[in-house]
Amino acid sequence: MHEVVKPDLRRPCDVVVLLSGAGGNLQAMIDSLQDGSGPGRIRAVISNRADAYGLERAKSAGIETRVLDHKVYEGREAFDTALIELIDTFTPKLVVLAGFMRILTPGFVRHYHGRLLNIHPSLLPLYKGLHTHQRVLESGDAEHGCSVHFVTEELDGGPLVVQAVVSVELHDTPATLAQRVHAREHLIYPLAIRWFAEGRLALGEHGAILDGQPLGPSGHLIPAI
Ligand code: GRF
Repeated sequence: MHEVVKPDLRRPCDVVVLLSGAGGNLQAMIDSLQDGSGPGRIRAVISNRADAYGLERAKSAGIETRVLDHKVYEGREAFDTALIELIDTFTPKLVVLAGFMRILTPGFVRHYHGRLLNIHPSLLPLYKGLHTHQRVLESGDAEHGCSVHFVTEELDGGPLVVQAVVSVELHDTPATLAQRVHAREHLIYPLAIRWFAEGRLALGEHGAILDGQPLGPSGHLIPAI
């Protein structure tokens, strides 16, 4: 049983971002949070891949970067232990996964309980895992979208914070659909981080809580435009 994790609002909300790739979500966070207008601040970006373009985006924004190559470690436990050690040198209040292509160990997830967020390109609990745009098109769904959730030990299964719905069009391909989903990701991830930084968002015993109210099973829902 976990208690609600209450943020300490006396100091800025330092955020560490973990990524493995392009960093489109990181860029959205930089554009939305890094101007100092709110309490959130990206303290560091860590990648398991030295060639991740997200690292270049971070450097251009003057954010510290680190690379921790998982291939150097013998197994997940060893890598995650080293990752925790590295992340904690930045003493973040929040850790966000932004296209970090590693499955995390239960120990890692527990260490950041209530302060670890992920974004997933589907309307969870639908389409956990990979290739979500392709799978949505194959199923003939009329709606798709993206979800921000607290990370728990169940892969893509933690309590939902916010979801944005995207309508599927007749001539969509995985690429066109992905493009519109990404645009919505770039809206909802900074929004969720801002809520957390402002002390409005927390993880309670039964799910995510916003402004003291339970968010319910779908989180905050943003309809299709
Ligand atoms: C996004 O689609 C996100 O939902 C998923 O990984 C992708 C990362 O894209 N978890 P980017 O690197 O942020 O552009």
